[in-house]
Amino acid sequence: MRKLFFSAICLALFSCASYKDEPSLNLNVEWKFITGDDPSFALPGYLDSAWKSMPVDRIWESAGFDPYDGYAWYRLRIVIPSELKEKALLKDSLRIYLGKINNFDQTFLNGQLIGINGENAIPAMASDTNFIHAPTNFWDKPRPYTLAVNDPRIRWDEENVIAVRVFDQGGQGGMHSGGQFIAMTKLTEYLTLDNQKTPFIFVDRGLSKTVLLQNHSNAYTIEGKFHISALDKLSGKEIFYLMRTIELKPGQKEEFSFNLEQLDQSALISYVFDVKGSGQELKVTDESPYITTPQAPEEPRINGAVVTAVRPGKPFLFTIPATGIRPMTFEAQGLPAGLILDARTGIITGRVMEKGQYNVTLKAVNAKGSTTRDLKIEIGDRICLTPPMGWNSWNCWGLAVDEQKVIASAKTYRDKGLMNHGWTYINIDDGWEIHQDSMPKRDPSGNILTNYKFPDMKRLGDSIHALGLKFGIYSSPGPLTCGGYTASYQHEKQDAGSFAAWGVDYLKYDWCSYGNIAKDTTLPEYKKPYFVMRDALLSVDRDIVYSLCQYGMGKVWQWGDEVGGNLWRTTGDITDTWESLKSIGFSQVENQPYARPGNWNDPDMLIVGWVGWGPSLHPTRLSPDEQYTHISLWSLLSSPLLIGCDLERLDAFTLNLLTNDEVIAVNQDLLGVQARQVTVDGDIQVWVKPLADGGQAFGVFNLGDKTANYVVDAEKAGLKPGGELRDLWRQKSLGTAGNDIRMAIPSHGVMLYKVK
Ligand code: GLA
Repeated sequence: MRKLFFSAICLALFSCASYKDEPSLNLNVEWKFITGDDPSFALPGYLDSAWKSMPVDRIWESAGFDPYDGYAWYRLRIVIPSELKEKALLKDSLRIYLGKINNFDQTFLNGQLIGINGENAIPAMASDTNFIHAPTNFWDKPRPYTLAVNDPRIRWDEENVIAVRVFDQGGQGGMHSGGQFIAMTKLTEYLTLDNQKTPFIFVDRGLSKTVLLQNHSNAYTIEGKFHISALDKLSGKEIFYLMRTIELKPGQKEEFSFNLEQLDQSALISYVFDVKGSGQELKVTDESPYITTPQAPEEPRINGAVVTAVRPGKPFLFTIPATGIRPMTFEAQGLPAGLILDARTGIITGRVMEKGQYNVTLKAVNAKGSTTRDLKIEIGDRICLTPPMGWNSWNCWGLAVDEQKVIASAKTYRDKGLMNHGWTYINIDDGWEIHQDSMPKRDPSGNILTNYKFPDMKRLGDSIHALGLKFGIYSSPGPLTCGGYTASYQHEKQDAGSFAAWGVDYLKYDWCSYGNIAKDTTLPEYKKPYFVMRDALLSVDRDIVYSLCQYGMGKVWQWGDEVGGNLWRTTGDITDTWESLKSIGFSQVENQPYARPGNWNDPDMLIVGWVGWGPSLHPTRLSPDEQYTHISLWSLLSSPLLIGCDLERLDAFTLNLLTNDEVIAVNQDLLGVQARQVTVDGDIQVWVKPLADGGQAFGVFNLGDKTANYVVDAEKAGLKPGGELRDLWRQKSLGTAGNDIRMAIPSHGVMLYKVK
């Protein structure tokens, strides 16, 4: 009976006029805002006229509250007119869409809870269940709250008060994404097109793809025409088209597969479901991957940094990164006393007591030939002379990281050949320690304990080292980490001792709950905890690369070196969207002079491959061109390169991004100078990085939404005239560069060159 009833409604609806532009109320306006916390702020009668006006399209740090962490409230008074339902195709529910909120929210309508952290509130949630206990990356989650049209919490045609209680755990805070609105739910909102679950697969010379259409409604049948089209991204020419008439019953799914020829650029793909009789359509766009990095030759080639450094008497570990067929044997001439090479693996270990600079000649030999390359070994006070290259667990596994996942990553470095390109560190981020809700957190002597997912840290460190790799870990100067786990406050020396005993080579030290300890936001307070851990690290019998993470507060690049930092985060957390990549990557301007060997600006970890910040992962939401932009820009910026994806799911495209030795060489260049932004011309930006061999690497980025045909004026961009021009991604020489360097740059993409 029920089903028939709904089908009847559908038929009636479909014969109606177009519902393309249903009315909606814009909530991206100035709200009322106050810091602090009081339950009466939720009440409709509360007088908020003295509160500040606040935009909701930017974090509160960018709207006068820098820095502020902790509780705050937003309120908005708004009349919800019944015109919304009268003019809508579907008349069953109302959606209050609040965009993304950093980090956590409880949302009230007229004094009653309607949602928590993106989930519609059910009565059991009324007393704060998962409000601030959700994963920290909830700042990236949209908040759509849905109410039945006859829900008594809605006051139709009268003033309503939406009150949002926000808790910011550290770093950026508040309602921040813009695009907030109120509207009736649409038929197309029941329809999803998943183009992420099955990414493009390279098959022979082509690409294959499967997408999944699904009707999530348990009441409506959705009928319409489904179109897939693909255009060549640079020329706009159509290269593929398919159309199917489809009827999806309530709950029904349907898969579609198609093949494309492989191009030397992306194809722009659109999937459109045109819902019959409604004028409404669901449109999802996609871009196909393309591989530029040539296969490494079979002959041996030594890649990666040409310098490495260790303090006198501290353990040394360096693995010669070489591509070429195996078996391969290695030699090293001129090694200082105290170091030995394993000729079979290329791993050099030992300790050197004397300060000095040693010029070593490395040699790699296989059945196809042999090669040599110089390596400078510096024994002195400086370490980390090129940006660290490694993997970190956070952007993929978040707090769900465990020992097996870490070991699997280390093994993939070897099995997929990443170590042959210089990838070295395997770093555990937050989530290895005892959680704040468990006891005991430390043993009777005060040594920090790990949780059940990390039963034996020394064993883990040893197995990472046995592969010729280095081991990184994470803590906070506060009592708790950002994820709510035990941290190093008042145990710094002891924790540094534990890290050293486990064989740790790298520490990321994340501000987090130290915000509650610091007396104020002055520089001495910002620096204090970092000095404490610096001294602790310097007192142990290992070199530990010191990575400061405090989101750039107090312009950390100006004093990160003073507190012993080798690298420092310059911004809040990155996520796998173009907006995030663009705002973080292209803002690394002011900190440029502060990067140098031993000191690196850190615009956060890489967001290519399968990421997810928790147990379930998805392929990055960046398009292939955005990913080329990401790796090119991070290489030019001399940024630490920390892969943030599940290495076991590394696909051909991602591997191509991470193993281009000419691109990596730009990042690892001996000079260690960060690229400067030399041109901003509308959507085009040119960034230039001087190199140790006298050449210059430069990237021409197109931040716009259309292909750009651009001419770089070499002289204006400060490029030396008359050099040999090379396309670094394709590893192809393009002849002598004239003053006008012409190129077509795909939208959100880059052309990366070297001129010498
Ligand atoms: C902060 C940092 C992230 C990550 C998490 C762990 O948000 O900026 O990089 O380390 O904490 O909880």
